[in-house]
Amino acid sequence: MKFRSVKGTKDILPPESFLWQHTEEMIRGVMHTFNYREIRTPVFEETALFARGIGELTDIVGKEMYTFTDRSMTRLTLKPEMTASVVRAYIQNNMGEQSSLVKVYYLSPMFRQERPQAGRLRQFHQYGAEAIGGGSYTIDADIIALAVSVLGGAGITGCSVRINSVGCENCRPAYREKLKKFLRPKLDNLSEESRARFDLNVMRILDTKNENDRKLAAGAPLIKDNLCEECDSHFTGLRETLRELKIDAEVDGTIVRGLDYYTKTAFEITSPDLGSQDALVGGGRYDLLVSELGGKPTPAVGFAAGMERLLMVMQKQSSRETPLPAPAIFIAAADEPGRKWALAATMDARRAGVAAETDFLGRSLKSQMREADRQKALFAIVVGRTEIETGKGVLKDMRAGTETPVELDALATHVRQMTGAADSADASDTVHGPGKSAHRIKR
Ligand code: HAM
Repeated sequence: MKFRSVKGTKDILPPESFLWQHTEEMIRGVMHTFNYREIRTPVFEETALFARGIGELTDIVGKEMYTFTDRSMTRLTLKPEMTASVVRAYIQNNMGEQSSLVKVYYLSPMFRQERPQAGRLRQFHQYGAEAIGGGSYTIDADIIALAVSVLGGAGITGCSVRINSVGCENCRPAYREKLKKFLRPKLDNLSEESRARFDLNVMRILDTKNENDRKLAAGAPLIKDNLCEECDSHFTGLRETLRELKIDAEVDGTIVRGLDYYTKTAFEITSPDLGSQDALVGGGRYDLLVSELGGKPTPAVGFAAGMERLLMVMQKQSSRETPLPAPAIFIAAADEPGRKWALAATMDARRAGVAAETDFLGRSLKSQMREADRQKALFAIVVGRTEIETGKGVLKDMRAGTETPVELDALATHVRQMTGAADSADASDTVHGPGKSAHRIKR
């Protein structure tokens, strides 16, 4: 019996995994410059947390969660998003007592049972950030600037930032009635999905992907034009701050978002390079969620973005290549004594912080050298009885083709000098040279 990965899941193999590491490192760097600190939460939580946090009537909770009952009959769910988990952790660990504005970021797998297609998986990965404890529009601007900076760090261009305000419990009830009044005469012609939304969450009809529904909803009153004074001045403040930060954000009154916790600011960043699943980043303010989940009333704002989608856009847009980590030296054995010596010398080199490899498959010398070449080793040396007896060998520079006599005792030191390898255990990082921000994997 042959096993295959589950539908909608994906193996991340080398060399692609190297591109992931590179990108994750860049994301962490940007998060740290914005003074966000990493949070890690469990992969599963009690189902009720998500049902309550995201909203019973959302697609995520209604149709997409991976929910199971464990042996002690507890209902658990693999996390479909991070915000509810972060808020749970914030409350449980009294994080608000340590700091009045808690700024955290994450990189984590998420699970949603959606129909898989390009850019849509059942296990996918999000990076994101949450700022809990501040109600000012300047934090919304900080979060949007952070999301934009990560895209900048990835070298991505051509994305659109679209913002909206979805109001609050003061302005939404009257607006919902206004919207229903507009849509009621068109109800029979709307899709089944939109008809269901009419009673459950009428605002979500506005961000439908159904073309006919879009046409029918054109000209509908928008929440951004029906805000209470507080929400309106928050939205104005955000737009002015974004202008100040030179972030080009288009106001799009149809952004509603598929999670129920949003209040005031909601935003999305899309890329034309993504096709139909064009949302790269989604986020907004959720001032009621902390109290909804049992904490003190605490305003908050955040965003999340799909790693797979980010990498898709990076691969599409970039012509730069990411050099892969390669051994600094390949120590080949000419005969049996050479084999034993080669492994010991490989270990010495590694201890000295030099990425080193040798042959483990008893290959011929010719095929060992071919392997050194395939692995793009920077240097190679052949060692056999003669070299061991004389304590001398010849170091071959695999790129230049030049050969230099070396004392075997000083092999690691010599390679270190030649490669400029620093005093680091992560030798792979020290040998592949510049090009840290490059994107495409060099094969
Ligand atoms: P979301 O819009 O559901 O928001 O997801 C954010 C991003 O995750 C999407 O824009 C997309 O890039 C990626 N994503 C979502 N579902 C999939 C999927 N099935 N396959 C691949 N990528 C996917 C949230 O999750 C909110 N928690 C964002 C937030 C944080 N709001 C406030 N704080």
